[in-house]
Amino acid sequence: MKKKNLLSLLVCLCLAMSVLLTSCGADSSSKTDAKETIATTTTAVDGIDYMALVNKTHPLPDNWEKNLETVKMTNSVGDEVETETKAYDAYLKLKEALEKEDVFVDLDSARRSVADQQRIMDEFTEGFGADYAAKTVAKPGYSEHHTGLALDLYLIIDGKDVTENEDMEKYPEIWEKIHEKLPEYGFILRYLKDKEHITGYGYEPWHIRYLDNKDIAKEITDKGITLEGYLNTADEDEVAIDYGSSQLYSDEDLKEAVIQIKCEFAFWPECKLESIRYAGDEAVTDKNLKWLKEVSGDDKLTQIAEFLMDFHTPKNTGDTSLESDKDYKDYQWWVAKTEDDGWEIVSKGY
Ligand code: DAL
Ligand code: ZN
Repeated sequence: MKKKNLLSLLVCLCLAMSVLLTSCGADSSSKTDAKETIATTTTAVDGIDYMALVNKTHPLPDNWEKNLETVKMTNSVGDEVETETKAYDAYLKLKEALEKEDVFVDLDSARRSVADQQRIMDEFTEGFGADYAAKTVAKPGYSEHHTGLALDLYLIIDGKDVTENEDMEKYPEIWEKIHEKLPEYGFILRYLKDKEHITGYGYEPWHIRYLDNKDIAKEITDKGITLEGYLNTADEDEVAIDYGSSQLYSDEDLKEAVIQIKCEFAFWPECKLESIRYAGDEAVTDKNLKWLKEVSGDDKLTQIAEFLMDFHTPKNTGDTSLESDKDYKDYQWWVAKTEDDGWEIVSKGY
């Protein structure tokens, strides 16, 4: 969740542990000396729904807190992390199994209050803009972290805490080993690559979700689907993405832009994404750049791109401006960026 060198407030962020944490925790953790202080804090009444869906369109269920039982531990960098009790027990077993394969992890963040999430959202919006924040941070009240069932891991490599996103992303083979083990302990990887239009978030190898059901976790993992897909709130059909043959942008660059679009699309309840294609370098003109600078009010924009999307709306779109049960073809999305920042959506629609 943190982007580049985000400041210390990001300590409690989804995946991100701040630069601060990285430096102060450099040699404080090892495979054997994790300092875990456990204290039960709340009492379950009726128990919680371990399959509960919390995402961009589904807030934390009412009365969740009342039924939540949590434990607190202190991680290797000295932060207190609160987790739902069964999820924590399962995490400890997962951690133990990973250690047998020389993979070492710790908990960066698990349960967050709505106020915690608001603070994070404010920081990200202020620091990186609303689009980036929306792709990375859940709206307060809509974060799976509120449940206590979502856990952000960080890696410990050669006894050193690897807490920065960019650093953690350098170890895909280690994440692969971790992800393989998740279902056996009732966890799934929550934010998958190429599923941003369903989950609404970019790939997060560190964010795992406890389901308290190994069979379901295995089914979801084996099928490569999302929790939304399993619960039938989203269609898992393939989405055709065509990056064209740009002379201006690499496929990687265009992919980043498409992730931004898909993350925003995930806010549109029950709309079914069919395809996205790059509209071509012909759309990248001085005239369009000028227009997008006006629309965004950002004179620093240097690069622009247009994408065309096909999608279908549900039987009842509610109060959105979209018509119900309709095929939208060649719906336009304009993205732009400056020299220093990533793609942002500047305009959409016909
Ligand atoms: N990073 C995840 C989406 C959250 O903020 O809950
Ligand atoms: Zn997370």
